[in-house]
Amino acid sequence: MDRKVVIFDHPLIQHKLSILRNKDTRTMDFRALVDEIASLMMFEATRDLPLEDIKVETPCGIADCKQISGRKLAFVPILRAGLGMVDGCIKMVPAARIGHIGLYRDEETLQPVEYYCKLPKDIDRRDVFVVDPMLATGGSAIDAIGQIKKRNPRKIIFMCIIAAPEGLEALQKAHPDVDIFCAGLDSHLNENGYIVPGLGDAGDRIFGTK
Ligand code: PRP
Ligand code: URA
Repeated sequence: MDRKVVIFDHPLIQHKLSILRNKDTRTMDFRALVDEIASLMMFEATRDLPLEDIKVETPCGIADCKQISGRKLAFVPILRAGLGMVDGCIKMVPAARIGHIGLYRDEETLQPVEYYCKLPKDIDRRDVFVVDPMLATGGSAIDAIGQIKKRNPRKIIFMCIIAAPEGLEALQKAHPDVDIFCAGLDSHLNENGYIVPGLGDAGDRIFGTK
């Protein structure tokens, strides 16, 4: 199957993204919006999950129904900011496992520096959703996905809230087999590697650290 790159145009996502970008949006609301956008993105990101037929006994008869056929999922947030998306994803798939990859961008070189990696033991039998609100140069996502690939997951999907064209291109080039879902695609990166217009520093805005 061809790799997917999806930029969302759904009105609910676009509306929530506008509030999220606003510099005056408070930490409490920012956090809630990241959670809600992640939940909404999950609908599309899980579209290809295979289904199987089942029969369900209702109070009035037998219904021909569908259920997801044994697909095991895992979510891996890139710390810190990726944590903000986890609850929104897990609400849709409560049985999924969660791994963590800790990376920060060196402010001078913009290169990712890894400080933590803990993944589910059976990740080789799971589809893995890597989540991080921001795809800027792409360095963090490329590195995180590289770490996960060493453990041979069945499939990797990357979900972010805002992508820069530079990061999207770099990620597609580095990992051509990974499906990518972005709530919005912005104009460019500035000289400090921040997405323009973007939303600022996602980690600081989620955790209120600035
Ligand atoms: C942010 C963001 C991504 C990364 C994106 O994290 O959450 O992980 O930058 O930039 P890149 O595409 O150029 O690698 P940051 O390094 O600010 O760490 P934090 O989440 O701990 O704040
Ligand atoms: N990380 C962020 O949090 N925001 C950006 O715009 C770029 C990287």
